[in-house]
Amino acid sequence: MAGLAMLVASPSRPEFRIDSSPKAINRRVCTSASATVTAPSSVAVAEVSTREPLEPFIFSKTSDSAVHWIRHRPAMVSWCPPPARRPCSGTRRRDDMSRQAPHALATEVGRGLSRRAVTRSLAAATLGASLWPRTAFGTARAISSAPGEDGGPLRLSSNENSYGLGPAALEALRASLSEANRYPSKHTSALGAALAALHEVGEEQVALAPGSGEILRATTLAFTSSSHGLVTAAPTFEAPSRTAALIGTPIDAVPVQPSGALDLTAMAARGQGAGLFFVCNPNNPTGGVNSSDAITDFVARVRRTTPDAVILVDEAYYEYVEDRSYATALPLTRTDPRIIVSRTFSKIHGMAGLRVGYAIGHPDTLSAMQQQLARNGLSSASAAAALASLGDEKHLAQQRTLNHEARAFTREAYERAGYRVLPSEANFLMVDVRRDAGSFQHLCREAGLAVARPFPPLTTHARITIGTMDEMRRAMRIMLPILSAPSSARYGRSVGAVEWQGEC
Ligand SMILES: Cc1ncc(COP(=O)(O)O)c(C=O)c1O
Repeated sequence: MAGLAMLVASPSRPEFRIDSSPKAINRRVCTSASATVTAPSSVAVAEVSTREPLEPFIFSKTSDSAVHWIRHRPAMVSWCPPPARRPCSGTRRRDDMSRQAPHALATEVGRGLSRRAVTRSLAAATLGASLWPRTAFGTARAISSAPGEDGGPLRLSSNENSYGLGPAALEALRASLSEANRYPSKHTSALGAALAALHEVGEEQVALAPGSGEILRATTLAFTSSSHGLVTAAPTFEAPSRTAALIGTPIDAVPVQPSGALDLTAMAARGQGAGLFFVCNPNNPTGGVNSSDAITDFVARVRRTTPDAVILVDEAYYEYVEDRSYATALPLTRTDPRIIVSRTFSKIHGMAGLRVGYAIGHPDTLSAMQQQLARNGLSSASAAAALASLGDEKHLAQQRTLNHEARAFTREAYERAGYRVLPSEANFLMVDVRRDAGSFQHLCREAGLAVARPFPPLTTHARITIGTMDEMRRAMRIMLPILSAPSSARYGRSVGAVEWQGEC
C-alpha cells in the first residue's frame, strides 16, 4: 500500500514512533536519536536526524487520497540516500531543505525506487517545500515548479495558487493533526459559523463542500433534468455542463461577449423553462466580469419568465477582482430564495489540494443541493486551515497584490509581442495566440510548461494561470519563442485532453 510514515518524536521519549494514517502500513520503533526510516515498499525513503533535546514534530503524514509533507517544529532534517547505499552526510539547515528537498529526493529515488515511488516522493517533497514557513511580504516562496527542478512542468494550467497556504492556515493545519482521529464536526461547524458571520447570514444558509466544484455538480443534479435544462456560457467552467450531460439534461451554452464577459441578456432570453442558470463571475476561462448592475438586471429578466429556476453564481475568483462595477451577488440571496452563490478556498487561499468550497443561499435550496453531496465530505484539517486562512487578511491582501503585479507583467509581455489578451480580473489570462491552442499547449508542454487545454469555441486562445513573478518570467521565455515560430497545422490532439479533465 502506498503511503508515507508519520514520525513523532517527543521530548520525554527520545524515539521515533512510526505510525501511519489512516491505516496501519508499518510499525517500527527506533530508540536512537537518529534513525533511518523506511516506509513499506515503493514509498519514499526518509532519513531523519535530530539534535538533543528532541523537539516534537510530525515529519510527514498521509491519507488515502492525499500526501501532506509537513514538519511541525524546527528540527534538523536531512534527505539522504538509505545507509545501505551511502551513509548520510550530515544535516542541512531548514532553508536549504526547503529549496533542495525535491531535487535531492529526485536524485535519491532515481537511484533505486520504483517510478510510482518517484512520483509520490516528488509530490510529497514538492508539497513539503511549499509548506515551509514564509518570509516577509513580497518574498513568499512558491511551490517549486521550475521545469526540471522537480521533474515536472511549470504548472500554469489549472489556476492554482503557486504560493500555497498562508502562515495562519499552515499553522492551523499542523495543529489540527492532533485531532485527526476525531470526526470533523468541531472544525467544520466552526468554519460554517465563521462564514455565516462573515457574510451576515444564518448558519443554515451556509453549505460546505469538498471544493466548490462539488457544489456545482450537486446543484446541477438537484435542479436540472431532461425537462429542466441548464443555461450556461461558452466557454465557461464546465462542471455544470459535464454533470448535465451525464444525466441527460439539455444544455444551452450561450457564447460569451468578445470581452470574455457573459452575455447575460442572451442567457436570460434563451432560458425560459430552464432548471438552472450557471453564471460564472469572473468567468473562467476568459477572466471577464459582469457588473453588479448587469447581474441584478439578469435576475429580474429570468424571474419574469422562469421564476422557479435556480441561479448559481460562481464566485471562485471573487477575491481577485478590482473592477469597481463588480460586486458579489450575495445580497441577492437575501431576497431571492432560488439564488446560490458559491466560493472556493482553492484560489486566493491557495488550498486547492485541501478541497474546501462553500455555498450561500436559502436553507431549503441548499438542503436540496446538499442531498447530492456526501456527508462529512470535508476533513477537519481542511476546515481548520480554511478557518484560519479566512482571518488572515494580511496574507490575502498580499496575494491580491502579487497576483496583480504578475498578471500585469504577463499581459504587458504578451501585448508588447503583439498578442491580444482578454480583460481579466482573476488569476489567469486568456491570450489570443492566433494559432491552434491545442498545438500551442503541446509545444509548451514539450518545453516544460503546462498551460490549459483549449476551451471551445475560443480554440485559438490559450489560458495561462498567473503564478509568481519568477514563474511568469520563465513562462514568457518559453512561450514567446514558440509563438514567434511559424504556426503549423494542428498538432495532433491537445495534450492530455483526458489527463486534464477535472482540472480547472
Ligand atoms: C470558476 C470555477 N468554479 C469552481 C471551480 C472549482 O474549484 P474547487 O472545486 O477547487 O473549489 C473552479 C476551479 O478552477 C473554477 O475555476
